[in-house]
Amino acid sequence: MDRTFVMVKPDGVQRGLVGHIVSRLEAKGLKLVGARFETLLEPRVNDQYKEHLEKPFYPSLKKYIMGGPVFLMVWEGRNAVSIVRKLIGATNPQEAAPGTIRGDFGIDIGRNVIHASDSNESASREIAIHFKTADISSYTRIDAAVIYEY
Ligand code: RTP
Ligand code: MG
Repeated sequence: MDRTFVMVKPDGVQRGLVGHIVSRLEAKGLKLVGARFETLLEPRVNDQYKEHLEKPFYPSLKKYIMGGPVFLMVWEGRNAVSIVRKLIGATNPQEAAPGTIRGDFGIDIGRNVIHASDSNESASREIAIHFKTADISSYTRIDAAVIYEY
């Protein structure tokens, strides 16, 4: 099983999309193993987005992400990273396919509602930035036996 880090960004929280997003990932069959509601401060935003620190859009990205509370989550499931990236859709909501979270709920690239790790390596790194091992739960979803074929 793989884990991925998912974050409802401040615009998603303010628009009341947390419940919808959690439901969507639960309905897919993924398992929620960690969650926290928090307003992020600069050091962890810089860590989270370290590949973008020198990009021209970084100052506005940082202001956006620090602009209100976010909902931080860890989700687990077979191929969880690629599954969640497909469910959230393209970075630019105007290019994201209908049916994806960004495709259904966003317009501007700088207000794209949700983040998800883009590789297993990023997922491990990002989970470690935001969660202690003790804050991630281990349990079996009662329906796992019918979600997975083997
Ligand atoms: P994320 O990391 O937030 O899940 O988004 P992503 O992988 O789909 O896209 P990424 O390239 O990692 O960009 C991170 C976030 O920066 C903002 N952005 N703005 N104005 C721009 O050209 C621009 N490009 C990226 C977006 O909020 C994007 O999600
Ligand atoms: Mg990214």
